[in-house]
Amino acid sequence: MQIVSSNAAMQRLAKKWQRAGALIGLVPTMGFLHEGHLSLVREARKRAGKRGKVVVSIYVNPTQFAPTEDFSKYPRDLKRDLKLLRVEGVDTVFVPDDKEMYPDRRDVPARFSTYVTEEKLSQTMEGASRPAHFRGVTTVVAKLFNIVLPDVAVFGQKDFQQAAIIKRMVRDLNFPVRIIVAPTAREPDGLAMSSRNKYLEGDLRRQATVLWRAMRATKVAVKKIKLFSAAVLKRDVKKWIETEPDARLDYVEFFDPETLVPITEVSPGTHMALAVFVGKTRLIDNGRL
Ligand code: PAF
Repeated sequence: MQIVSSNAAMQRLAKKWQRAGALIGLVPTMGFLHEGHLSLVREARKRAGKRGKVVVSIYVNPTQFAPTEDFSKYPRDLKRDLKLLRVEGVDTVFVPDDKEMYPDRRDVPARFSTYVTEEKLSQTMEGASRPAHFRGVTTVVAKLFNIVLPDVAVFGQKDFQQAAIIKRMVRDLNFPVRIIVAPTAREPDGLAMSSRNKYLEGDLRRQATVLWRAMRATKVAVKKIKLFSAAVLKRDVKKWIETEPDARLDYVEFFDPETLVPITEVSPGTHMALAVFVGKTRLIDNGRL
């Protein structure tokens, strides 16, 4: 397994693979890998084929964090990540640093000044709660696509809105890459796997399953009643969430899975997404009702 940290070296390698006719599969990550990431790596291997190349990028991207968020304390453990990826038979791990990705970003005038912005799907939910977040995501993912030159890139369904925005960016800007969205990996008690679960200490870990419980209860209610007012459901979800002493609902939304447009009458097949603070940790989840 090769570890590459420069953009130029990664691009040279990708071009060499392209000339040899090997498909390239990319899994972009921010590291601190868990079983969910590894399931994306397996999907990338399946898509690239035995003769293809699988690249995992590990980069905690500063432009997708607001100044008040957890960028500096975001969990990192490169040594452990590399060990896990070696077991999965990954070909190359791309590990750039901030200087490589954003040269002199804080200088005036900054040498980095081009961003990619999706203007529709990124307005609601995560985009409304975290205003500069998706601009950072689309910018870094566009850069990774230009550096790694993947034929296929795999993202997790846990970040449903992120995946929809990246698909839209790829379509709008004609990136020659196929986007695959792989199912959310869950702990046995339903909690969606996330690097941020590491923050959940003591009873907070148990309380965190309230996202999954609220989604399941909503699904049961919608299946029974068929057509439900979103306003009523939102009120119920808030009540369910806040039965846990340290849980606070940030948002819950019901929407069309293609357009992400909010829906006022919820029926089976509608998509639901929510963000909840459990203690200081902000968790997200989503699913089809
Ligand atoms: O989903 C993530 O881990 C990140 O948003 C991504 C896609 C790696 C971009 O930094």
